[in-house]
Amino acid sequence: MPLELLPFAERLTRWQRNHGRHDLPWQVADPYRVWLSEIMLQQTQVATVIPYYQRFTESFPDVVSLAAAPLDEVLAHWAGLGYYTRARNLHAAAGKVMSAFAGSFPATAAEMEMLPGVGRSTAAAIAGFCFAERSPILDGNVKRVLTRWAGVAGFPGERKVEQQLWALAEALLPEQAADMPAYTQGMMDLGATLCTRSKPRCQACPLREDCRAHIEGRQAELPTRKPRKAIPERQTVMLLLEHEGRLLLERRPPTGIWGGLWSLPEAASAAEAQLLCRQRFGLDVELAETLPALVHTFTHFRLTITPLRLRVTGGQHRVADADLAWLRRSEALKAGIPTPVRKLLQAKARPQGELFEQ
Ligand code: ADE
Repeated sequence: MPLELLPFAERLTRWQRNHGRHDLPWQVADPYRVWLSEIMLQQTQVATVIPYYQRFTESFPDVVSLAAAPLDEVLAHWAGLGYYTRARNLHAAAGKVMSAFAGSFPATAAEMEMLPGVGRSTAAAIAGFCFAERSPILDGNVKRVLTRWAGVAGFPGERKVEQQLWALAEALLPEQAADMPAYTQGMMDLGATLCTRSKPRCQACPLREDCRAHIEGRQAELPTRKPRKAIPERQTVMLLLEHEGRLLLERRPPTGIWGGLWSLPEAASAAEAQLLCRQRFGLDVELAETLPALVHTFTHFRLTITPLRLRVTGGQHRVADADLAWLRRSEALKAGIPTPVRKLLQAKARPQGELFEQ
């Protein structure tokens, strides 16, 4: 039968035997060592893990020696690997193997899941490698392989999508339990070496013939990225207060957005603007024009700016304040001003008349 037409699991298993990784130090039959490697490999690269794994297994060759060691000694062996909860859980789990499993590492995924720090996928990996148990793994790499191969859209961190992927992973398992070690390693190897996040090497992939993402050219879209939270919206009114060819600018407080930059005076609403001009600047103003709103997006919120062009009709403007300045447009554009204010000042003069003098 041509290789392309074999079932998923057979193609993957054959590929693993021919092209997968076979020389990793934890590719041994000992569930204690496989467990240790799986914990170390969470959030950590293979190349980083290898020397830690070697030192750790020299000091703690089995679960009995690990359980007997003081936690501090275990943490000392973990120093530099990061995510130290992993080391604490490891030590606690060794204790549990002693107390609940009479000192021998459990032989089923269901029992392994009772150990602190061992989730469904990690338990399945250990049980698959060491006991040929037909339980699927579903780590980040495998999620990428499966979402692409089956064309599963939706963020895989979402419960419904994840449930779908677990069901798919279960359905794709090899029929023969004896294939589980190679199959499990194959899923990991494919995700790590070919079906990478960017620039996947589809030409070399044993699943390309029926991979939805490859067929439809959707590799870059899958897996679907985490949806961005809707960012909060804020509103402000900016005052283009003109008088004798000059515009009133105000220096912003030193901290917060646009800290220390020169900007336009702001009000909460058009109604508040007149009151504010009287109280803060001693000016009577009338509304000349409401200009089109401007949207400016910051990292954490979106600001909608409504610019109001105001005309001074009376009052005596006082500019004793060092944080206020009447500037010509050309002068204002030379000052440190925020981008949306620059855009406003550069906007074409309105047909109703000059925004303010050049
Ligand atoms: N990442 C997680 N488990 C692994 C394993 N057994 N081999 C290589 N990389 C892995």
